[in-house]
Amino acid sequence: MKALVVGASGQIGAMTVKDLVDNYKADVVAADLNISKVREVAKATNPNRVTPVKLDATNDKAMAKVLKNVDVVLNSAWYELNIKIMSAAIRAGVHYTDLGGFYDGTLKQLKFNKKAKDAGITCVLGIGSTPGITNVCGAAGANRLDSVNAISIYCTWGTKRKSTGAAMPAYSIRTVLDEMTQKPGIVDKGKKVKVPVMSGATSVVMPEPAGKVTAYYIKHSEPATMADFIGKGTRHVSFRIGFPEVDFATFKTLAELGFSSEEKLDVGGCKCSPKDYITAMYTDAVSSARQSTEVVDEYDYLRTDVTGKKDGLPARCTLFVCTWNDRKTGLSSARDTSVPPSITADWLAKGKIDKRGVLPPEACIDPEPFFKELGKRKIQVDEQMQVSSRYY
Ligand SMILES: NC(=O)c1ccc[n+]([C@@H]2O[C@H](COP(=O)([O-])OP(=O)(O)OC[C@H]3O[C@@H](n4cnc5c(N)ncnc54)[C@H](OP(=O)(O)O)[C@@H]3O)[C@@H](O)[C@H]2O)c1
Repeated sequence: MKALVVGASGQIGAMTVKDLVDNYKADVVAADLNISKVREVAKATNPNRVTPVKLDATNDKAMAKVLKNVDVVLNSAWYELNIKIMSAAIRAGVHYTDLGGFYDGTLKQLKFNKKAKDAGITCVLGIGSTPGITNVCGAAGANRLDSVNAISIYCTWGTKRKSTGAAMPAYSIRTVLDEMTQKPGIVDKGKKVKVPVMSGATSVVMPEPAGKVTAYYIKHSEPATMADFIGKGTRHVSFRIGFPEVDFATFKTLAELGFSSEEKLDVGGCKCSPKDYITAMYTDAVSSARQSTEVVDEYDYLRTDVTGKKDGLPARCTLFVCTWNDRKTGLSSARDTSVPPSITADWLAKGKIDKRGVLPPEACIDPEPFFKELGKRKIQVDEQMQVSSRYY
């Protein structure tokens, strides 16, 4: 397989490059804005298989050039670029994956369905951990039931070591700040509605050592697609995040200070928005953290509850996804986001995904073989089924 990874030196993109090479012996064009960072990724992975390329994905000509000889493009850059990169893939007739369109972007991307079908390609939207694995978990849970009432998704992360220090986000600081400031969409009584940021506080039990966490609604793309594509009468879909306490305090402070603003400020004659400034600090910190040899035991947990009916009685299927850092490879628990695009790219290149158009994961990914692929990388999926019995 020949794959193009855009955003290849980002936190997620760099791990996707590694998974493509290690597990599929793929030839990867690793593209990013900063050539020196992407050269480091090629050197650390396999310089014979990875070709570093300087690329601005907003440049249509440059995109057309790198898309010429690849089977699939994996977009690991910021979600604001999804439509631009997906359109380039459609024009080039190359399969496409991304890490999520942040609800509103996903709804816009779905409108390109006919164009993608006409081009004979598949664009898989939001195939990371969440969105991504969670969408497939929703489909898996729905397969166990005759009808579905609600799909409730939860996510948390943390470390074994308790810390009171400032938190480092597990994914793009831009996304974290957007999550803390933009209204989430959910499906309520069959309708897509917007609710206040960080509303819907609920206590949810996650596997140990996380235990009971308080989770809030935040903007995510699962509710944009799951009721429509899973069907079975689904009337409620929501996503809640259970931030670890210290992270919550840090991110809330940053959001309240206005770091999510895209308005350019004049700082000593230099024009820069608070969001671009903090993003630049964050990407440098990610790059330096990659050089560190310190191993911190940390985890990412996802929980998807699908409730409905089985044989006329109430039933619930819950899927837990647990990912710890891999002490052998040194990769962090965020690999649960970087692995799904790699599996999907392999399936697209091999024709294992044969539906065409713009599709969310629940519409085109077969859950069981997908969970087995995750299992090979120690990303563990456990399923619990709760059914009712009646004695009259
Ligand atoms: N689905 C999920 O489970 C999930 C989980 C986590 C994150 N995400 C999403 O995944 C995306 C990436 O996250 P991340 O944590 O890897 O972010 P990141 O570390 O900031 O990486 C993004 C990369 O994209 C590059 N980039 C930005 N603009 C570009 C352009 N015009 N052309 C080419 N490359 C460009 C950046 O380059 P520079 O550093 O040089 O600017 C950076 O290397 C985010 O949108 C995030 O929300 C999804």
